[in-house]
Amino acid sequence: MTTAVEVRELRKTFGSTEVLHDVTFSVRQGEIFGILGPNGAGKTTTIECIVGAQRPTSGTVEVLTRTPHVDRGAIRQLVGYQLQSSVLPNALRVREVLEVFARLYPAPRDVARLMDETGLTPLARARVGTLSGGQRQRLSIALALVGSPRIVVLDELTTGLDPQARLAMWELVERVSGGGITVLLVSHALDEVERLCDRLTVVLEGRTIFTGTPHELHELAPTAPDGGRRSLQDAYLELIERRSDAAGTRRN
Ligand SMILES: Nc1ncnc2c1ncn2[C@@H]1O[C@H](COP(=O)(O)OP(=O)(O)OP(=O)(O)O)[C@@H](O)[C@H]1O
Ligand SMILES: [Mg+2]
Repeated sequence: MTTAVEVRELRKTFGSTEVLHDVTFSVRQGEIFGILGPNGAGKTTTIECIVGAQRPTSGTVEVLTRTPHVDRGAIRQLVGYQLQSSVLPNALRVREVLEVFARLYPAPRDVARLMDETGLTPLARARVGTLSGGQRQRLSIALALVGSPRIVVLDELTTGLDPQARLAMWELVERVSGGGITVLLVSHALDEVERLCDRLTVVLEGRTIFTGTPHELHELAPTAPDGGRRSLQDAYLELIERRSDAAGTRRN
C-alpha cells in the first residue's frame, strides 16, 4: 500500500506558543482519512503544514514523497484544498469561478462535467453571493477538485448544513473517493466519520492520541458503565476525557 501523506513528530510553534507538540500519522493512497479533535487541538494547523501553507518547526511532513513547504508548486497541483466558503468571490457566477480557477492548472477537470458531479449545473449562472450554505459548500468542493488533484483536503465539510445537504455531501465524497482520490477529512461529526472514514486520527492539545479504524476507536470503550453499548461518539468522548485528565496530570 503506497503512502499519500506521512506526518512524523510534527511540531509547530507560533512565536513562543507551541501549538503542535507531536502529530504523527500516515495516510494511505485511496483512503478516506479523518482528522478529529477538540476545537483548538491543532487540526487546521496540521492541514496547513500538509498543504505547504505553514512550515513545520520540526518533524517531517511528506506528501506523495514531496516536502510541501519546499515544493509548493507541485503540491498545489497534487493537493486540492477546500476553500473556506467565506473567501469565495461573491460577484462572479458559479461557472465563471470554476473556469477562472481551472485556468490556473495544467490539467484541469472539465468544468461542465465537474458541475454535473457536484450538483452545480442548475446554478451555473447564479452569482456566488446568492448561494445558500450548502450550495457554497458544493462550490468549494468543486474548486478543490478542479485542478485534478490526487489528494483532496476537506476541513469541516458539513458544518452548518441541513441533514439532506449533509447526505448529499457524503455521497459526493464517496464518489470522489471512488474515483481514486485520497480524501483527508477534518470533522467533528462522529456519524460522518463512521460512515465515510476508512481510518482516522485523533489530535488532542497538539498530540496524536489515536490512529486506527472507526471500529478500533469504538473498541477502546465499547460499553458504558451500565453495560449498554456505547455509540462511536461516546467512545470518542471517553477517550478525549481520559487523555485530557492524563495531560492535566502531566502538566501539574
Ligand atoms: N497563526 C497563528 N498564530 C498563533 N496561534 C495560532 C495560529 N494559528 C493557530 N493558532 C493557535 O493554534 C491552536 C490550534 O489551532 P487550529 O486552528 O489548528 O485548531 P483546530 O483543531 O483546527 O480547531 P477547530 O476545531 O476550532 O477548527 C489554537 O490555539 C490557535 O489559537
Ligand atoms: Mg480548524
